[in-house]
Amino acid sequence: MSPQTFVLKVSPKAPQKRLILSAAEVLRRGGLVAFPTETVYGLGANALNATAVKQIFVVKGRPLDNPMIVHIASVADLKALTTHVPEEANQLIEKFWPGPLTLILQKSPDVPDDVTGGLDTVAVRMPQNKIALALIKALGHPIAAPSANLSGRPSGTTAGHVLQDFAGKIDMILDGGPVTVGVESTVLDLSQKPPAILRPGAVTQEDLAPFLGRVVMGRGTESKKRSPGTRYRHYSPKARVTLVEPGDEKAIAKLAKQCTAEGKKVAVVARHFTSTRRPTAIVRIMPQELEEYAKLIFAVLRELDELAVDEIIIERTEEKGIGVAIMDRLKRAAAR
Ligand code: TXA
Ligand code: MG
Repeated sequence: MSPQTFVLKVSPKAPQKRLILSAAEVLRRGGLVAFPTETVYGLGANALNATAVKQIFVVKGRPLDNPMIVHIASVADLKALTTHVPEEANQLIEKFWPGPLTLILQKSPDVPDDVTGGLDTVAVRMPQNKIALALIKALGHPIAAPSANLSGRPSGTTAGHVLQDFAGKIDMILDGGPVTVGVESTVLDLSQKPPAILRPGAVTQEDLAPFLGRVVMGRGTESKKRSPGTRYRHYSPKARVTLVEPGDEKAIAKLAKQCTAEGKKVAVVARHFTSTRRPTAIVRIMPQELEEYAKLIFAVLRELDELAVDEIIIERTEEKGIGVAIMDRLKRAAAR
């Protein structure tokens, strides 16, 4: 396949045309290019090239029924992807695009079934990152891209993470530096009534409510059927993850001690660390601000994997704002 993965250093502020054009050429030939978005890095293929899209599933080890998000660079690109754009979608597009909001809409027959896992809907978003937008424009077609990580692993938020998972397996990585959001986009299903958030992200339920009236958090079995990605264990480091209440330093110290006694290598990820009750463990103190926390969480989980940690004890965050998305990912990382 690809014997060598080229890494191109691209300016996130003013993406160099020459570099973008060479990446677009790779996509045009049916190759795979990882690129930054504001949320996480994506692993992209030309969305209208079914063979290239299938290759994404192969390199990620992704279940074939887990559909991908199609990335567009202008609202006009929607026409080729969907048969119908409901009125509420237009308002959301106006307000939140480009940005971390994915809309599930009725699919047009032109979208390959491989992209949508055979569903009659398609997930679409317009990313905010300039490199991503320039790449889609240069290709002249939408780009299908799941998060750039091996299936089940924490999403890649730097080019280095992408290289960890895909060196020698994909053609190219556009390195635009670390992402600015850190958790994947909010997935909003507008094909059901009331609209449902299938995956929380930086655009919150409170942000969406004024445009939709009622919008529900879709966690039930129905939403699992609708968003196959939410069925699988996800965002998981190799270590076992245990969540503890914020500030419960006693519980952290006790669990750390117990695991250490069992001969395990232990790490603690916390924000409230004031006491002298220091656990014998690798400790990562995270920022108080949830926006800053979100940017770092996947990187920290990957770093602890590199250190071959067996047990990660993570303090829960408050489920407010982007904290809902953070806790969603942490709970999944902790799912056994
Ligand atoms: O921020 C993001 O969304 C990133 C960047 C690269 O754009 N992409 C991303 O893609 O997170 P992925 O494939 O890792 O997650 C896509 C999620 C999955 O949970 C998938 O099941 C869901 O969106 N999805 C995709 N198409 C769907 C559809 N037609 N109906 C319901 N859920 C869908
Ligand atoms: Mg993913």
